[in-house]
Amino acid sequence: MWIPLEIAQNLLMGFEPIATLARRRHSTGVNADPIKVREVFERYGRFSPVSGKDILEIGPGHTLEVLAQAKVDGAISCTAIDIVDYRSSDQAGCEGVKFMRYDGRTIPLASASCDLIWSHTAFEHLRFPGQTVKECFRVLRPGGSLIALIDLGDHAWYGTVPPRPDKVFDCLRYPEWLWNLMRWNRSSYVNRLRQSEWLDLLGREGFFIREKETAVSEETVRLLPSLRYLHKYCQEDAVTSLLTVCCDKPHTSAAGVVQQWP
Ligand SMILES: C[S@@+](CC[C@H](N)C(=O)[O-])C[C@H]1O[C@@H](n2cnc3c(N)ncnc32)[C@H](O)[C@@H]1O
Repeated sequence: MWIPLEIAQNLLMGFEPIATLARRRHSTGVNADPIKVREVFERYGRFSPVSGKDILEIGPGHTLEVLAQAKVDGAISCTAIDIVDYRSSDQAGCEGVKFMRYDGRTIPLASASCDLIWSHTAFEHLRFPGQTVKECFRVLRPGGSLIALIDLGDHAWYGTVPPRPDKVFDCLRYPEWLWNLMRWNRSSYVNRLRQSEWLDLLGREGFFIREKETAVSEETVRLLPSLRYLHKYCQEDAVTSLLTVCCDKPHTSAAGVVQQWP
């Protein structure tokens, strides 16, 4: 990774016409693949059923089909919000899903208007994670749930040939100012919050963490002694590459109470 080139690319992506052109080549993950759609839908369903609920998805990318499946299974309303409109002209079967592009700050929904919020590999891209978590709390009804799958790795190294498992957390090498200068405008931007920071943030905003599932980068466990930039983190934060969290908005608000893990 050559830092001046990374900075130049980031500055270029700050120009909307260039960003629009670049987005035509983006792959956002699930990409409306029916098998992956089913997997994601079933993963969410393990935590909370959809029937009779108003559901919001944050950051669907190309894929409105997970919400469309919820509609088929009895959700009352399904809304998707994203900072980019990746919808194709042909998303047959997604007519019941409302899409809104927004600024990534204020969720364009009324307070206490939904029962379930989903997000799949989008929270790590949030430029303002604290504000988004606060907004999720606001738009959920008491008793509602937020389910987020968060990929904690450095996306810039995904899909490289040959694979570079030693670079899973390469993003953590850089000071924040430099990282933002290299990535802020790009789809590979990640906010670099570690799993404990996500859990603390959710707890601080008043969520009750009902369940969490994590996956570990085994390669990082093996290489940890030589990856000095990870030594400032506790072992769990240094090696956890995936976090799925299901948290509830209590019926009576517990804002300000930080839940401790473990
Ligand atoms: C890696 S893609 C994941 C897309 C989809 N959920 C999937 O799994 O295929 C990340 C998505 O999050 C969106 N995103 C980034 N920041 C966002 C924000 N503040 N609010 C909503 N969506 C955001 C991006 O535009 C992109 O569509």
